[in-house]
Amino acid sequence: MRIVKKRRRVSIIGAGNVGATTAQKIVENGLADVVLLDIRDGVAQGKSLDILEAGPLMGFDTRIVGTGRYEEIADSSVVVVTAGFSRKPGMSRDDLLHKNGEIIRDVAHNIRKFAPDSIVIPVTNPMDLMAYVLWRVTGFPRERVIGMGGALDSSRFAYFLSEETRTSVSNIQSLVMGGHGDQMVPLLDFSTIAGVPVRKMIPAERLEAIVNRTRNGGAEIVHLMKDSSAYFAPAAAIYSMIESILHDRHRIIPSSVLLEGEYGIKGAFVGVPVRLGNQGLEEIVQLPLSAEESSQLAHSAAVIAEGISALKRLFNDFSA
Ligand code: NAI
Ligand code: 2OP
Repeated sequence: MRIVKKRRRVSIIGAGNVGATTAQKIVENGLADVVLLDIRDGVAQGKSLDILEAGPLMGFDTRIVGTGRYEEIADSSVVVVTAGFSRKPGMSRDDLLHKNGEIIRDVAHNIRKFAPDSIVIPVTNPMDLMAYVLWRVTGFPRERVIGMGGALDSSRFAYFLSEETRTSVSNIQSLVMGGHGDQMVPLLDFSTIAGVPVRKMIPAERLEAIVNRTRNGGAEIVHLMKDSSAYFAPAAAIYSMIESILHDRHRIIPSSVLLEGEYGIKGAFVGVPVRLGNQGLEEIVQLPLSAEESSQLAHSAAVIAEGISALKRLFNDFSA
């Protein structure tokens, strides 16, 4: 009997800047076939065709389908959720929570219906809260809802450290925990340059400036680009998570997962180091944080918990 082995499928909901750039990376690197879905008629189809037409030049045979129909996401191993708005000038955090919450609730219903065995990677902001919506509405176990935030924040931190010390990025290990937002917690004791803790290599005032720049990394890009937020580094961060999942690499990548008592936090999605393999979240890595780091993480988690309370009020505790 001939065994027909199909390539893995990754679906991406939202064919905007982050979604389409992630799709391009996946397809060009031959990681998986992609389904790109958007509510705007023709956008996902047009971008998919554009990517495919680069195949002969770039030499890839992986496939991408643009669609507006959720039926096409069936059999996906991973579903990435980038649908929705980014925060625009004049828009409050609550406005964003409301608008994107509605969109993500609808997306989650469709993932539950059409890709019930998938691993979901929430990206839409406010990401830690949208991860909560996806988890509640899909009813998936926590191992299969893994938000992207820490991978991007840690990469920004690593880049700034490499720039400061004029050292290859391949020598830098960095770690940012906490919520993906102003309350993120860059961890200096777990960040090294060629194995040497950063505090031994960089003066305290320069380190403080780098930490602040990392905290404002997203805002710095918006300030420069005006009408868009970042998407190249976010797409690379999403790619690294998917690659560890599909290739079962067990990489430790900081991601937003539902904590059930780890780090003294319960019932909220918060960024922590996790091991990612083909079952999704394999392990939450527990680090011995200093008292100051623990209190910063607790503060970050408290802000997320307030957001969850607002979400529950908004959606009547997801009873509908
Ligand atoms: P974008 O505006 O370029 O794309 C969003 C896309 O979502 C649009 O094509 C829109 O048509 C689509 N969309 C809206 N409602 C939809 C629905 N109901 N179903 C399907 N598609 C729908 O925005 P961009 O730059 O791609 O960012 C997307 C989201 O990701 C934003 O919320 C942004 O803040 C967030 N983000 C999060 C990051 C993170 O680290 N977690 C990093 C970068 C962006
Ligand atoms: C970022 O950090 C907007 O969350 C996005 O660039």
